[in-house]
Amino acid sequence: MKSCRIAILGATGAVGRTMLQVLEEQTDWPVGPVKLLASPRSAGQTLMFKGQPLTLEAVSEDSFADVDVVLGAVENELAKRWAPVIVNAGAVFVDNSSAFRLDPDVPLVIPQINPQDIRTHQGIIANPNCATIIALMAVAPIYRLSRITRMIVSTYQAVSGAGAAGLAELKRQIAQLEAGQPASAETFPVQIAYNLIPQIGGFDEQGYSSEEMKLQNEGRKILHDPALRVSCTCVRVPVLRCHSESITLETEREVSLDEVRRAIMEAEGVILNEQPYPTPLACTDQDTVEVGRLRRDLASEQGIALWCCGDQLRKGAATNAVEIVRALWQGQEI
Ligand SMILES: NC(=O)c1ccc[n+]([C@@H]2O[C@H](COP(=O)([O-])OP(=O)(O)OC[C@H]3O[C@@H](n4cnc5c(N)ncnc54)[C@H](OP(=O)(O)O)[C@@H]3O)[C@@H](O)[C@H]2O)c1
Repeated sequence: MKSCRIAILGATGAVGRTMLQVLEEQTDWPVGPVKLLASPRSAGQTLMFKGQPLTLEAVSEDSFADVDVVLGAVENELAKRWAPVIVNAGAVFVDNSSAFRLDPDVPLVIPQINPQDIRTHQGIIANPNCATIIALMAVAPIYRLSRITRMIVSTYQAVSGAGAAGLAELKRQIAQLEAGQPASAETFPVQIAYNLIPQIGGFDEQGYSSEEMKLQNEGRKILHDPALRVSCTCVRVPVLRCHSESITLETEREVSLDEVRRAIMEAEGVILNEQPYPTPLACTDQDTVEVGRLRRDLASEQGIALWCCGDQLRKGAATNAVEIVRALWQGQEI
């Protein structure tokens, strides 16, 4: 099999660096050469890949002529700016921003759930929102037992979900407070150290934040179920890495907890952890989503409640994107 030439656009960021790490770990398909792209601020710096320093380049119109796939790890406006250049150069753009996720011409893919959608791409494939990937990895085994009609979700999202700057802000604020100084808030709307912030993204006219609407909108597209109803509260928590979610769902047919346990244990990419339960620290730097605290919902006949944790930089972003590329490459559908 010929080698897949990959560029990472946004290679210095929280997601971009994790992509490089995940690519380094690939052993069963041929990856490389790898090109690192970022802003002019990073040009000339190096990052290590397979024991060798790779030099970062400032992204330009000529960056994509010699690559098969571009892994996107930049904000929406930059993804929109470079997508046509990438596609015109003949490469496939696997994008982590939300710029193209709801575009009907762009497949939105979690390879363990809707791999068939990869084949419909026209040059761009979108990686879903990180909290959406983690929630759907946990509930898809249940959905395969019976359609899920509604979900109530509360998220507990790590600071690295806001990128390298979010991670730096929590560490800086803790140091400032320990030194007796006031904590300065730049990335988050208020102090995150020793606090919780019930806002991720801007609010709409109904009072939901942009992050809260992603689970319903993206969940409908991934599950091919336009009637799925999700009501979500997204909270930023002072955790470095890994998103956690409390999910209460209702199924069309009543399913037993034993059926659910078996379905989760048999599903790819998910682990049932009831000894005693998943935590973000224990899930850090792993690709599997852990599910625990499985119980009947006391407020609904057909309801099930669960808790799940997943590393949002790996399965919520870099790993999912690399899995898409691997599936594409092995199917040679580029
Ligand atoms: N963090 C997460 O958990 C997560 C999860 C899923 C999806 N995402 C999405 O993934 C994308 C990247 O997020 P992130 O958290 O990795 O952000 P980040 O840590 O802030 O990294 C941003 C990247 O964009 C690059 N960049 C900034 N301005 C640029 C320019 N003018 N030209 C080229 N590159 C430029 C930066 O390069 P310089 O260092 O040179 O500035 C850096 O590599 C976003 O769309 C985000 O919504 C993030």
